[in-house]
Amino acid sequence: MLTIEPTGGILGATVRGADLSQPLSDADFAAILRALGEHGVLRFPGQTLTAPQLRDFSRRFGHIQGSVTGRFHHREAPEVGILSNIVENGEPIGIADAGQDWHTDMSYTATKGFLNVLYAVKVPVRDGRPLGDTVFANMHAAYEDLPAEVKTRLAGMTATHDFNKFWEKMRRRPGSPRAPLTPEQRAKRPPAVHPIFLTHPITGRPVLYCNPGYAERINELDEAESARMLEYLFAHQLQPKYQWTHRWTVGDVLVWDHIGTLHNAIPDYRPDEPRLMLRCQVMAETIFDPAFRRQWHLAA
Ligand code: SIN
Repeated sequence: MLTIEPTGGILGATVRGADLSQPLSDADFAAILRALGEHGVLRFPGQTLTAPQLRDFSRRFGHIQGSVTGRFHHREAPEVGILSNIVENGEPIGIADAGQDWHTDMSYTATKGFLNVLYAVKVPVRDGRPLGDTVFANMHAAYEDLPAEVKTRLAGMTATHDFNKFWEKMRRRPGSPRAPLTPEQRAKRPPAVHPIFLTHPITGRPVLYCNPGYAERINELDEAESARMLEYLFAHQLQPKYQWTHRWTVGDVLVWDHIGTLHNAIPDYRPDEPRLMLRCQVMAETIFDPAFRRQWHLAA
């Protein structure tokens, strides 16, 4: 019996009664989809999964996207990425600095990201307190609170999102292992253009779809106004009142909606404090597909 307990914060709910190593019933899948729209971030505690089981659970929601560099995939399931600061035999086993600033995954691709699915295998703990939290911000609420004149001004406008913007920000950090993207890697991820306001595919409500990690230009404004407006939007959407923090426990599977949230992974742990997450990035073709929407009773 599935139960969904809201955190009481601006985002997040804990889902109990689902064993994600087994196929979900249709009723449970439908309830999880609805809860994702309503709460943005769902925690499934106490899971024990193989990489193929994580992949099978994730791909029920849509196509899984591999990484741009082609590295750090699980050998039993290449769709599953590895995020980790662990080094074995002198080689990193995963991406050590994934997501360590505010962003929305896959906003830089023509097909947007829909979900991230992270499975916590190792969580750093110091003095009894887990480290490496992930913080989220609610973009339904951020849109709702925008002044009417900003909603009117930006209605119908688009932003360009570029993978290289976040990559370069990470790369410039002292000690970053990232090399500049090669022309071939950049060609695999050309910038993408998306409306600044989207209708959320589950809730049917408007969201602010623009994030400091990847959005670099509002296309319908001149350069100076675009820069001013982006600065305003980024400050607005990151106000603490829209934020909620997930503190990890080993065995958590966290599923979050990219379209209605931003997130930021907090790197407050040392290299000798191991963190290991398995990740599936689910893309948004399926959630916008009319047949899928009819099947799961999502509004046309
Ligand atoms: C990500 O941005 O996908 C990583 C989040 C995390 O490791 O907490």
